[in-house]
Amino acid sequence: MPRPARPEKVHYSSCRKEPTQPQSESKIGFAQRAFASTATVNGIPVEVHNESGSKRVVVTKSLPGDRWLQYLVNADCRVEVCKHTDIILSNATIKQLLGTKCDGVIGQLTEDWGAELFEALRQAGGKAYSNYAVGYNNVKVQEATKRGIPVGNTPGVLTETTAELAAALTLAAARRVVEADTFMRGGHYKGWLPSLFVGQLLQNKTVGIIGAGRIGAAYARMMVEGHKMNLVYYDPYPNKQLEEYIRLYGELLRHRGEPPVAARRVETVEEVLQEADVVSLHCNLDDSTRHLINSQRLALMKKDAVLVNAARGPCIDEVALVAHLKANPDFRCGLDVFEDEPAMKPGLADCPNAVIVPHIASASMWTRSGMATLAAANVAGVLSGFPVWNKIDILPFVEKPMASVPQASPSIVNAKELGLKLVADA
Ligand SMILES: NC(=O)c1ccc[n+]([C@@H]2O[C@H](COP(=O)([O-])OP(=O)(O)OC[C@H]3O[C@@H](n4cnc5c(N)ncnc54)[C@H](O)[C@@H]3O)[C@@H](O)[C@H]2O)c1
Repeated sequence: MPRPARPEKVHYSSCRKEPTQPQSESKIGFAQRAFASTATVNGIPVEVHNESGSKRVVVTKSLPGDRWLQYLVNADCRVEVCKHTDIILSNATIKQLLGTKCDGVIGQLTEDWGAELFEALRQAGGKAYSNYAVGYNNVKVQEATKRGIPVGNTPGVLTETTAELAAALTLAAARRVVEADTFMRGGHYKGWLPSLFVGQLLQNKTVGIIGAGRIGAAYARMMVEGHKMNLVYYDPYPNKQLEEYIRLYGELLRHRGEPPVAARRVETVEEVLQEADVVSLHCNLDDSTRHLINSQRLALMKKDAVLVNAARGPCIDEVALVAHLKANPDFRCGLDVFEDEPAMKPGLADCPNAVIVPHIASASMWTRSGMATLAAANVAGVLSGFPVWNKIDILPFVEKPMASVPQASPSIVNAKELGLKLVADA
């Protein structure tokens, strides 16, 4: 049975357990810390850091690096990292973890942070929540705001890493890398042939972006600079900086006697789909982008186009995509995210023209530890009474020596609604 689209309150406790997928925490910087002890909270195992800290912060998954922990320890927090073996924690498990006293939480995008959890956090005395992600479609921000709880996210450190994975999916799909790899491993290669795994050349073609924010713009630059592609994009807001960058790059190419490139914003998603050879989604998920790509819009795309999604699964009607992939063998897609994650719609895994990876777009060590740092700095900053940074450049939090990082929470999405002081006003 396919999993139904994710309803508001879903309990995931029956999902796969950790041993079924590789974790290798110690190899990628999640090393056991010497000063940690272990304990249980309502029967759930936790790793405890800074036992004597006066504020209790729950972290629902192990996080990479050490800097994030320094932020919380410096803010006099006792940090409890959940060691439950369920990959996706149910609301019931999270409520048990929160217990009767919890000052702050760092949670995951797989968790359902709505009224139920924010009410439990409020009742436990909670004053801060941060998502370990830039996107926060799993968070009902208004439910947190209603209860006076600031919600943090981690913008700025995912941009290049996520754009690189979208570029990797684009190339892998266009040049049929995964199909060819499977063919090799299967022992089917008997000699070079003119017709073996012929794919699409990207050079000088047109790349289309839906959502030209941080990640969309970084991806656009990679494709334009790397493959001399022209850009066509749709976003409700123009990205003038990106347009100017590409104009100047086009001038450079012209000056060198090469064909120039150009960037153009169009008024509709449809225009992007009709014109582009590659379309990559980089919008946030909300009511305006749920099933943004559906069967009617797929039908507008070129028969041999490449569609990439490293935004959020529900931006694509995945049933329609499977039907389209089957009916159009030259059409290809690269997917990092899925509508009913972690499940795939029936038939998707059988489509050789789909490249599919398990939501790893932000999975570089620099990014994942940077996300941990920002999430911790969000919670530590609120619990310390610091103002909110909310500026585009968040690198000081990630890269400056600890003694000179800004005394602020890097990114609180409901700062305005809660009337929190911003650094600029402080
Ligand atoms: N796969 C992953 O691991 C991964 C990692 C990071 C981010 N993401 C996703 O990527 C999204 C984008 O991240 P970002 O940092 O670039 O965010 P951003 O806010 O900088 O960019 C999002 C852009 O989408 C645009 N947009 C909003 N509604 C739109 C619509 N209806 N049509 C077209 N564009 C629309 C916005 O105007 C904005 O420019 C996040 O919301 C997140 O869901 C996924």
